[in-house]
Amino acid sequence: MTRRSSHPKLVVANWKMGLSVHESTQLAKKLKSSHVLPPDCELVLCPTFSSLSAVAEAKPSKVGLGSQDVFWERHGAFTGEVSVDDLIELGCRYVILGHSERRRLLGETDEMVRRKVFTVMARGLTPIICVGETAEQRRRGLAHHAVARQLQAALKNVPPPRHGQTVIVAYEPVWAISPGGPATPTDARDMAGVVHQGLVDHFGQRLTERQTRVLYGGSVSAETVADFVDGEHLHGVLVGAQSQHYVSLAALLRALSER
Ligand code: PGA
Repeated sequence: MTRRSSHPKLVVANWKMGLSVHESTQLAKKLKSSHVLPPDCELVLCPTFSSLSAVAEAKPSKVGLGSQDVFWERHGAFTGEVSVDDLIELGCRYVILGHSERRRLLGETDEMVRRKVFTVMARGLTPIICVGETAEQRRRGLAHHAVARQLQAALKNVPPPRHGQTVIVAYEPVWAISPGGPATPTDARDMAGVVHQGLVDHFGQRLTERQTRVLYGGSVSAETVADFVDGEHLHGVLVGAQSQHYVSLAALLRALSER
């Protein structure tokens, strides 16, 4: 499996529920005024739903916008949910799906993730599908199986990406998400191979090479980021804690650009 990517290195900033609307806007403004984005990196900001519109206004135009979730139905009596059409109207091009915090805390199932992937792709957006084993699954030697199964479930009956559309899969071992510690780069690359194979099995070799990207997520920092992006197995990172402050995010982007 060799595919050194010609794409820029991708950093997806998952701001989780860590920043207020005001803080999110200030950080997006600071990213704009400081011209911090290196030319060989791509950055996508994923603020809370409530901050999307303010961040869309404040961010640099070259920086992408993503949401942290979506509902699978497009319209109707679904109190509290957010539709993909609203995300599009607010300028989102990316949607994080199946994050382990949602699976664990909100009971999100593989089937729910699959329906969301379907909806997001049908509307032409880029899904960022999160998969990853628990500490227990790793301890019992079931990590590969767990990740392969999660990916298979998320893509079941999902049609191929359209021309120009990308499917992103983020390998995020549950135990590595902060305050845990990062996986080893070797483990991350090894699992990227499992993800790559799952994508080939579903979409075929050609589409996988051209229209999919694999990220690593879990306690990524400026110190470690360069070890997790090789352009071959891993094309970028999904970053939580270290993306929520200007200083650590800027340091991370610099470190990635210099690798
Ligand atoms: P972390 O979060 O970088 O804070 O570990 C990553 C994620 O959960 O997406």
